[in-house]
Amino acid sequence: MRVVQQNEKRPILNVSSDETEMIRQLRRYLTDKLTYLLEQPGTIGIGVSGGSMPRVFSKAILGLPESVLVWKRIRLFMIDERVVPIDDEDSNLGAYQKCFPEDLWYVFVPISVYRDAAMTASNYENNLRRILLPEQMGTLPKFDLLFLGCGTDGHTASIFPGRDRLEKVTEFNWVSAITDSPKLPPVRVTLTMPCFKYAKNVAFIIQGAAKSPVVRAIYDRDMTVPAAQARPYNDNFTLFIDEEAGKLLPAIRFDSDEEDDEEEGQSPPPPFVA
Ligand code: 6PG
Repeated sequence: MRVVQQNEKRPILNVSSDETEMIRQLRRYLTDKLTYLLEQPGTIGIGVSGGSMPRVFSKAILGLPESVLVWKRIRLFMIDERVVPIDDEDSNLGAYQKCFPEDLWYVFVPISVYRDAAMTASNYENNLRRILLPEQMGTLPKFDLLFLGCGTDGHTASIFPGRDRLEKVTEFNWVSAITDSPKLPPVRVTLTMPCFKYAKNVAFIIQGAAKSPVVRAIYDRDMTVPAAQARPYNDNFTLFIDEEAGKLLPAIRFDSDEEDDEEEGQSPPPPFVA
């Protein structure tokens, strides 16, 4: 397990050689974060993305110990969703339901899909406010844990380059709607960029060489790229990437995990400072 504790300008990097290692890294991160959040009052809201994430994330979270997987305190919600029926193969919530046992489907914040994308966004925002009741900064939510993906064009959630000025279509602008997504299907609702910036923790899960330029743009804080813009103001920012996705990053030494070092009888190396 290779983790690099960066200085405050860089995200924390978890680089994996295969999906098994990535899932192990995700479980460690989730365990650490949930252990802390369970000591706080309130519902823990975990935002997740679509695409290839449902399979990987579901495997990671469903393998957590019951001591942290306290479903009566945890709710999962879609960071973005395609405006299609839940049984449509393009539905993100539908994709997660396929990965979860049916008796756990209640842990997902529901999205009612209307023909009108703005109405879908407004109804979803009300559900998020009512069910998660997140801490707020003004009228903006401080979501607990957000897991984002990215496209090769640098989009994240359903916020695309050149279309990152989303129209305010709801009362508090937590959720917006687009009808011309370059990634099909075209009609979507999505959390807005301020939700990412005010979140308590933001993590990306990114796999594959095709996304390595986007990983580098995130690492370099290239604010022309929506995925890089999604960095939280508090810098609690973590990347879970495979070696292919990280291949354009500058050569860095990885701190092996304390567990591994203790197993080898070594004291963990000092944190890496980029
Ligand atoms: C969506 C996703 C989207 C996704 C990226 C990466 O609903 O389409 O939320 O933002 O995370 O497009 O998708 P892949 O992981 O499938 O490449």
